[in-house]
Amino acid sequence: MMITRIYQPDEYEAAAKEIQLGELIAFPTETVYGLGADATNEQAAKRVYLAKGRPSDNPLIVTVSSQAMMERFTGPVDKRAQRLIDHFWPGSLTLIFNVAPGKLSKTVTGGLTTAAFRCPANETTRKMIAAADTPIVGPSANTSGKPSPTTAQHVYHDMNGRIAGIIDDGPTKVGVESTILDLSKGQPTILRPGAVTPEEIEGVLGCPVLADNHHVGKTEIPKAPGMKYKHYAPAAQVLIVATDEWPEALRWADRQEKKVGVMASAVLKKQTSHPFFDIGADVATASRRLFAGLRYFDSDVPVDYILAPAYPEEGLGMAYMNRLRKAAGDQFFHG
Ligand code: TXA
Ligand code: MG
Repeated sequence: MMITRIYQPDEYEAAAKEIQLGELIAFPTETVYGLGADATNEQAAKRVYLAKGRPSDNPLIVTVSSQAMMERFTGPVDKRAQRLIDHFWPGSLTLIFNVAPGKLSKTVTGGLTTAAFRCPANETTRKMIAAADTPIVGPSANTSGKPSPTTAQHVYHDMNGRIAGIIDDGPTKVGVESTILDLSKGQPTILRPGAVTPEEIEGVLGCPVLADNHHVGKTEIPKAPGMKYKHYAPAAQVLIVATDEWPEALRWADRQEKKVGVMASAVLKKQTSHPFFDIGADVATASRRLFAGLRYFDSDVPVDYILAPAYPEEGLGMAYMNRLRKAAGDQFFHG
């Protein structure tokens, strides 16, 4: 079995060498940890699918350290894209562009004529990519079907022995994956809600953006190929609890013979004797802690049901609820 080394942020150059050698290195971003490999190395990219156990028709994000690095593959971008890049990069907005044929391997694009580019806010990771002088693929560094990792420990849990190393830069700040915006067609379309909201994008572009948010319900054709796979699915059944349903939900939990885990704001802790995970009292904290909470009740304190709070589906709440609805298979608690 391969030894998975933990790199400190100041060891980014050693990690970059591994990337150049075709090895896999997990890297921090402000959203979630990613699983990196040289995006121009077909074999390395293939090993990412293997390590994740991910279906290989699902294309990978290409993570760059700068716009200039991206333009090696896309050519110069138009004014609309430039405005977005100036405003949101580095940061949590992933942009889909057409790519020149043959510049990226089929393994990365999943055979599409487009690719998704992201320049993360984490400085260590940008330095690592710049030192490797090649873009890296960057799917979330979890086993396929598990919640995305928001700490290096989560990555280690899923990937120990399967990858060369993990750069540990502490817990991620946002906690849900980037917003994906498709600029390859006429009207800009959000394929996955994230920390950057449709309102912010519209503010910068000065034109409406299609938000495919309520999207990708069970019967619709998936827009981002990844949307068709069951993501973020813990072993337990998650039930989403509306704010005014909490008293009833906690009484329901007391009546269960099966184990119930409660993910809620700390003020509710005194009101229940069930295993508890403090998810915070606002949507930003809940987004940051959601995946850690799902993992907590998956492996640390296994339960049969997880209760988790609903938030209004606006702003960051769109991204939070999108992930939570997936984890819950859209099941709400009804008293
Ligand atoms: O925040 C993030 O974006 C994280 C961090 C690590 O950077 N990465 C991430 O990657 O979430 P991943 O691979 O788990 O999700 C990428 C999504 C997938 O659903 C994939 O189908 C979609 O992007 N995607 C990639 N290329 C695409 C393309 N050309 N067209 C449409 N969707 C694409
Ligand atoms: Mg993922």
